[in-house]
Amino acid sequence: MRVGILSFRPLDKPISYEEGRLRTAVRELGYKPKVLRAANCELYFDKAGLTLYYLGKKFPSLDVVIPRVSILNNVDLQSSVVRQLELVGMPVLNKYDAIVRAKNKLKTLQILSHYGIPIPKTVVIGSRDDLKSAIDRVGGAPVILKYPFGSLGSGVVIAESYRAALSTLDLLWSSAVTQIMLVQEYVKESKGKDTRVFVVGGKVVASMQRSAKKGEFRSNAALGGSGKSIEISDEYKDIAIKSAELLGLEMAGVDIITTNNGPAVLEVNCNPGFEELEEATRVDVAKAIVERAVELPVA
Ligand SMILES: Nc1ncnc2c1ncn2[C@@H]1O[C@H](COP(=O)(O)OP(=O)(O)O)[C@@H](O)[C@H]1O
Ligand SMILES: [Mg+2]
Repeated sequence: MRVGILSFRPLDKPISYEEGRLRTAVRELGYKPKVLRAANCELYFDKAGLTLYYLGKKFPSLDVVIPRVSILNNVDLQSSVVRQLELVGMPVLNKYDAIVRAKNKLKTLQILSHYGIPIPKTVVIGSRDDLKSAIDRVGGAPVILKYPFGSLGSGVVIAESYRAALSTLDLLWSSAVTQIMLVQEYVKESKGKDTRVFVVGGKVVASMQRSAKKGEFRSNAALGGSGKSIEISDEYKDIAIKSAELLGLEMAGVDIITTNNGPAVLEVNCNPGFEELEEATRVDVAKAIVERAVELPVA
């Protein structure tokens, strides 16, 4: 079997830790890895149908592709490459529809809320006039402002007061293409901790508790957060598995925060990193992903 690992990193950058680990796992499982660069893909359309080219030739025939859609500034283009792979008949992990849902925190929360998954109280606003009532609705300041397309903690802000929230909103929107913001209840009692649950093929593969570094409320590793291995309860497992399933993700990193009323899902990552997770838990996450990928039915 030939397993493609599609990297979305710029051509002048080496492949990521995760991409390297996936390549190793493919080899260790006795399959043939092929690392490809999305930047070398060309989407071609004409009236006879569409074609995918790679470095000027037809995209290689592979049994499955694991796309690592990571960069955020061009989700549309990136996800279209994944869609084109599906349309030319290649199984992918994860699929286009699921990626589009998960890359957008608004879409994610809408689906999770509809199906009864616990989430923090959240209001979506598109006008500064609605900020005051939104903050009141989620329980007052301090409050979390979240950009729908953020990642690695970079689109998440805490505002201690309405005044701080309003001026932050104005600043964030002054350079934004679309004026949209999630206003979310601040889960103070979590004290900068949350749980990352890694789901592959409807099963929990590994999980860790993440703690923000001192002076920070966001637990992301990119912001200095640290992870440690933990055993999670069946309730947390069920929530993570159900969240991944509702979004249609074969692979998902589900962020769950613990509130005074129990667990609440913050977001579901469709292309979660797993360097910290493998380090903290010693679980071979890459192997679990590849094992699932090769099981996927031909599209
Ligand atoms: N409502 C909240 N209350 C408290 N902390 C939060 C809340 N939302 C996010 N955080 C913290 O910020 C981190 C990043 O938020 P998240 O929604 O996962 O966005 P990102 O995609 O940037 O990781 C979380 O892991 C958590 O530590
Ligand atoms: Mg997160």
